[in-house]
Formats: sequence, structure tokens, C-alpha cells
Amino acid sequence: MKVYAINGSPRKNNNTATLLQKALDGVKEAAKDKEIETEIINLYDLNYTGCKSCFACKRLGGASYGKCAIKDDIYEVLEKLSQADGIIFGSPIYLSNITGQLQSFLERLLFPYLVYDENYSTIAPKKMPTAFIYTMNAQEELMDKIGYPSTFNKIESSLERILTKPLVMYSNNTYQFDDYSKYKSNAFSEEEKAEHRRTQFPLDCQKAFELGTNLIK
Ligand SMILES: Cc1cc2nc3c(=O)[nH]c(=O)nc-3n(C[C@H](O)[C@H](O)[C@H](O)COP(=O)(O)O)c2cc1C
Repeated sequence: MKVYAINGSPRKNNNTATLLQKALDGVKEAAKDKEIETEIINLYDLNYTGCKSCFACKRLGGASYGKCAIKDDIYEVLEKLSQADGIIFGSPIYLSNITGQLQSFLERLLFPYLVYDENYSTIAPKKMPTAFIYTMNAQEELMDKIGYPSTFNKIESSLERILTKPLVMYSNNTYQFDDYSKYKSNAFSEEEKAEHRRTQFPLDCQKAFELGTNLIK
């Protein structure tokens, strides 16, 4: 069995990556008796684009029907994911959405499986459990007020239609810099941020761990 975490953050050791690793730890814990491998894929290490609209994935009788034909750094990754036993996506919120890198990745992963028939059915070879972890500056109340969940819901709906309905968690009010005094950042109170980091982030890590265990259950 193999479960993958897809890191949509350019940072390999920060909020998103930490929560993804906790989720994979939860997967391992839940799968104790079974042979299970986990892997984090850092999207910003890879050279690729979003969908190029070549439609090779929809060409009747074509060699690439149902799969992405573009041969760049994620070609092999997409092959591996087609047989995954679980996929956990993680993204920081950039300008009120997931990062462009993850959006491009999802176009390449999901669109080839979407059939342009009357039901917009799916030909994904495997329907593995999925999850989504979002991290952001916005506090929970603000996130709800400005409607982030309904934005994210659109991505989750595509995932549900083509693979499976994802488990979801948010980590709010994340700590962004090592030292707030070095940056123009008076929109935030460093003290409040540091306190949130100390008290809430460990709880978010626990929540990510539980998300991982629930993914496998
Ligand atoms: C380019 C950029 C845009 C951002 N836009 C938003 C935003 O619209 N809303 C928000 O709540 N946080 C925003 N943030 C903050 C990040 O989402 C947040 O710090 C996140 O937890 C960083 O994840 P990381 O530590 O894994 O890189 C932005 C950060 C950057 C660098």
C-alpha cells in the first residue's frame, strides 16, 4: 500500500509540509499491521505546467486516452498516483485560493479522467481515499466571513466527482516568518501569532494526524 502527500507549498519544512507529515504519521499509525509506504511529493521541486488543452486524453482510440500525454516532471508522478491507496493534498492559501502550482497539478491529475459524456462520468482507474489540508493567515472567523470554504468547495467537488470526497482540515492564523520584527507586518500582532503558534498549532498537528488515521480507516 502506498499513500502520497502532495505539498503545494514552496516551503518544505513549514506549516503545510509539517501538517502533511503529521497526516502521513497518522496513516502509518492506522495501518500498523499492514505494509504501508508513504511519500511526500514537493511540487515546487518539479518542472511542469498546467493542462495545455491538447485533448490527447479525450481522443478516441488515442494512445493517451484517459491519461495526460504531456511528458514533463509530473508524468511519472501521475502514473504513480493513479495506483495510490490514498492521496493527501496540502496547500497554503495564496490570494484566497490554493497555490497556482497545486491548481496546475490538479488540472493534469483530474481532467484526463473526466469524460465528456452526458453524465461527465469518471474513468479514474482507482478511487482511493483523498484529503485536503489548507493553511492560511486568516483566522477562522475571517475565513468564514470572506467565504474561503465555498471557494475551496469547488476544488473539493471536482475531486469528489473524479476520485473521492476528500476529508478536509484548515489550519488558520499560521506563523509566517521566523522573526516578525524583520518584516513589515504590522497587520499582525507578533505576540498573538506566537501564542497561537504555541497553543493552537500542536492541536492542528494532532488534527492532521487524526485525518491521516481516518483516511485509512
Ligand atoms: C503569495 C502569498 C499570498 C498569500 N495570500 C493569502 C491569502 O489570500 N489569505 C490568507 O489567509 N493567507 C495568505 N497567505 C499566507 C499563507 O497562506 C500562510 O502563511 C500559509 O500557512 C503558508 O504556508 P507554508 O508555511 O506551508 O508556506 C499568503 C502568503 C503568500 C506567500
